[in-house]
Amino acid sequence: MSDQATQELIDGLNEDLAAEFQAVIHYLVGAEMMTGASRPELKEFFEGEIQDELGHAQFLTSKIVALGGEPTTEPADVELGSSNREQLEIALQAEKDTIQRYKQRVKQAEAAGETGLTVRLEDVIADEEEHRDEIRMILEDFAG
Ligand SMILES: [Fe+2]
Ligand SMILES: [Fe+2]
Repeated sequence: MSDQATQELIDGLNEDLAAEFQAVIHYLVGAEMMTGASRPELKEFFEGEIQDELGHAQFLTSKIVALGGEPTTEPADVELGSSNREQLEIALQAEKDTIQRYKQRVKQAEAAGETGLTVRLEDVIADEEEHRDEIRMILEDFAG
């Protein structure tokens, strides 16, 4: 394990943390912005995601500190759509991007000798894939 590999891992985990904060904000604000007949279901769905993303943020924060890093407190820029569909499409793209980032992070964790972390990151990837699949299913034949 080189110090450089650990530093790259910490920087990557901070990028992930900023994206998790972004996801919490998007799901929280997006839930309230849902409109029309499908508002109750979509609001409930977005609200349900908040705890998952918050849990990821907490896990990342804990790991960054344990690795000797300083956790970011800044979210990545939050994009808000102007319709239910746009909110869902933004969330879907964010989940896809997040999965790609975590796959990269698994490689960095391996390079830094953090074997346990690779396993935990794969659990997080499984969560994000479920989020992605749910949003994809909602967007099929989407009418509201
Ligand atoms: Fe997440
Ligand atoms: Fe997610």
